[in-house]
Order: sequence, then C-alpha cells, then structure tokens
Amino acid sequence: MTEEEYLKIHKKNLTPLNIKIDTELFEKQIEKYNFRRWGDKFHEYPRFGLPLVNENGSLNNDIDPSCWPLDRWNFVKKGFKDTDEDFTEFYNNVEKYDDLIDETFFTIPTEVLSLSSLNPLQPIKEYLLRSCILRFDTMGHFKPHFDTWFPTKWLRLWGTTKPDGCVFRYEVDEPGQTWVETKKCFKKYVEEINIEPGRLYLHDSAKWHDVLAYKDNVYQFFIAVETRCPIEEFLL
Ligand SMILES: [Fe+2]
Repeated sequence: MTEEEYLKIHKKNLTPLNIKIDTELFEKQIEKYNFRRWGDKFHEYPRFGLPLVNENGSLNNDIDPSCWPLDRWNFVKKGFKDTDEDFTEFYNNVEKYDDLIDETFFTIPTEVLSLSSLNPLQPIKEYLLRSCILRFDTMGHFKPHFDTWFPTKWLRLWGTTKPDGCVFRYEVDEPGQTWVETKKCFKKYVEEINIEPGRLYLHDSAKWHDVLAYKDNVYQFFIAVETRCPIEEFLL
C-alpha cells in the first residue's frame, strides 16, 4: 500500500472500528495463560506478550519472535551484539538485507484466537498477520517508535481493556510542555483521550508513538492485518 493510499484511511491517530471486545469476559478467559516476557531486553519493566498469530500456532515455542520487537529480533538473529558499532552497522544498512522478517512472516493462529471473547475479531481473522495480546503492569512501557513504513504490507490495529490505566501518545510537530527525546531531538507527545475499553482502533503506526501503563494487568490488542483487509467496512 502506498503512502497516499494509507493516508486516505488514516485520517486520525486512532480511528474507531465496529469491533469491540467484552473486557470482562476476555479478562476471565485470558487468566489461565502464561504470558512471555516481551523481547530479550528491558525485563525490569513488566511487559508480556501472548501470541494470537505467530509462526506455527504453538504457545510452547522456546523463543517466540512474535513476542519480540522485530527489529531487535532481526538484529540478534544476524549475530550483532549490543555495541555502538553493531547498532550503527545494522540500523544504517537495514535495506541491504533481504531476509529480515516482518509482520507478514506470521500467519498461523494460536488457540488464544479461538477464545469466545475474541469472536468479534471474526470478520478480520482471515487477514491477520503477527498479532499478540500484550499485558503491561505498572511501569510497563514502549519507548517512542513507529511500526509502519512505505510501501506498507500491513495495517495496525490497537485497543486496550484499561484505558484508565495507560497513556497512549503520538508525536506532534508543535512546541509544547511534554517533551520526549527521540531521533536525537525533542518532540512533543500528546495523549489520546476518550479511548473506549475493548474497542479496536485503526492505529496510525507510521507516526511516532509511545505507551505507558500505570496500573497492573493492562491488556492491549496488538494486531496487524494484511493491506487487502477492507478496513473501511469496519469503521464505526
Ligand atoms: Fe507501536
């Protein structure tokens, strides 16, 4: 999908969809699952993932890249180490690798996707790519980042069970009081408001954004779909 096509759909940071999950039922059903630590770094922050769609449909993989930041996964798989030289070498030359995995590498549903509380996802199930349930406890966060670039092979959806327990923010190009260091400069980040619990949103993840939980058991629906998904049919 070209940037022009993408911008036609993403008129807001978060565009509400007519897909809503019953958070009470979901929380009851998800309790029995063991979540994994997210990625291999920053384990001091409570960030966990449970795959909905991964490489093989199993919840018992020794390591599951669907529950990693994929840039980090590719970096580690290529044998790079946490040195300034290796970061520079990898991130400055990402386009030269043609074997890096992205969201489209993951297409097999796990049993979690069959939970009855996730039945509202039925209309988009055939389009799902790498998708997880995230669970953050207090202080769990993702630093500013973006997940989509052009031409893109996926669209991102997002939602949470507990909008009153987390702050979801996007970067804006205007001066202000909330400044975060990204891209070696300071930018203003503005919190999204009026997020409905359990509601899925089309998420403009080509923009820089971050998220922080300030309560425990903040679940997030971290979902990617193919660009052929007729998302306009699901707008609220
Ligand atoms: Fe993101």
